[in-house]
Amino acid sequence: MNKEEKILAYETLLPQLASLMADERDEICRMANFCALLHEEMKFFWTGFYRVIDGELRLGPFQGPIACTRIAKGRGVCGTCWQQGRTIIVPDVEQFPGHIACSSLSRSEIVVPIKDYNNDVIAVLDIDSKALNTFDAIDQEYLEKAVLLLQ
Ligand code: SME
Repeated sequence: MNKEEKILAYETLLPQLASLMADERDEICRMANFCALLHEEMKFFWTGFYRVIDGELRLGPFQGPIACTRIAKGRGVCGTCWQQGRTIIVPDVEQFPGHIACSSLSRSEIVVPIKDYNNDVIAVLDIDSKALNTFDAIDQEYLEKAVLLLQ
C-alpha cells in the first residue's frame, strides 16, 4: 500500500469506526469490533488491545494468531508504550531491545496508547506486520485519532 492508498484507507475507515463506536458503550465490545474492522480493512498481521489491569497489561480483544497474555510495565514494545505514554513505531522488531516475540512472523510494529480523561494509559493498541518498515507517521496520525473514538 503506497502513502496515498494508506491515507485513503484510513480516511474511509475513521467514519466507519466512529459509527461503530457510537452504537456501543461496553469497552470490550467496542475494542472487539474496533480491531476487527481495522484488521480486515488494513490487512495487518495482528491487531489487538492490551488493557491495564492490576498493574500489568493483559491481552484484550484481538485479531490474528494467539499472543502472550500478560506484559509488565516497561517490558517489550507494549510495556514501553504504556510506561512512556506515547506511540512507539518499531521498523524492525529485531532492533528493539526487549521486544516480546509473540510470533516469529512479526517483523515491524506500532503501539499506540489509549488514555482516559486524566491522561492515564488504560490500554494500548498493538499492531504487527509481517513486513519490515510497515508503519510511519501516517499510521501514527490516524491511529492516534482512531483510538480517541474509544474514550
Ligand atoms: N511484540 C509485543 C508483544 C505483543 S505481540 O506483538 C501481540 C511487545 O514487544 O510488546
